[in-house]
Amino acid sequence: MPIVIKSEEEIGIMREAGRHVAQVLQILVEHVRPGVVETELDRIVREEFARRGVIPTFLGYQGYPATVCVSVNDEIVHGIPGDRAFQEGDVVSIDLGCTYRGFVADCAVTVGVGRISPEAERLIRVTEEALWRGIRAARAGVRLGAIGHAIQTYVEGQGFSVVREYVGHGVGRQMHEDPQVPNYGPPDFGPVLRKGMVLAIEPMVNMGTWRTKRDADGWTVRTADGSLSAHFEHTIAITDGEPLVLTLP
Ligand code: MF3
Ligand code: CO
Repeated sequence: MPIVIKSEEEIGIMREAGRHVAQVLQILVEHVRPGVVETELDRIVREEFARRGVIPTFLGYQGYPATVCVSVNDEIVHGIPGDRAFQEGDVVSIDLGCTYRGFVADCAVTVGVGRISPEAERLIRVTEEALWRGIRAARAGVRLGAIGHAIQTYVEGQGFSVVREYVGHGVGRQMHEDPQVPNYGPPDFGPVLRKGMVLAIEPMVNMGTWRTKRDADGWTVRTADGSLSAHFEHTIAITDGEPLVLTLP
């Protein structure tokens, strides 16, 4: 499918979608405390989305059974919220998407539960900074590869690794549109970015190997070596200048 260029009006709607999803993600983060059970986050999303009249994009997507992904410690992405309670020291990634007036917004954050190790804290900060470096690289006239190149160069310079088997994506009326947005690779790769493209940039960063494995549940993706992983994501629009970050509260 060709890359869909969004109009100013469509980007305005996506900004509203992004506001909803970012605000609800903020509420979820406040609930990540020792003893809170993962499914509580799913319950909060259902309640908040119903109140706001937005649709949980993930629920039922290729059979995914929840509204939100909760990925703990060595889990990278696509963890299904279960009966497990958060524990002091856990590293928790939360990924949330909503559909509003026909458009999708997608974002993720990673937080520590209570006190976490200094190295885990550094992993989280490096992943968030990697996302912002990717966002700043996303400008009209450069190639898509500039995003992944900025992310990979920074992350590897910090001694961590970038997941290769899962990538960011175009977003719009569908959660996953072209192009795929890798978090690694050369800057001269891929299509030239143009005003009106909307992308979900989502670096997944591991302390050890970048290699992954998938659980028997068919969803949960973990680091192959059991090392910790972090994930941050924003949906952004390419403009004539600075990219517009749509998933801010
Ligand atoms: N941010 C994730 C992605 O872009 C969310 C998808 S989770 C799913 O792939 F459950 F909906 F698949
Ligand atoms: Co995404």
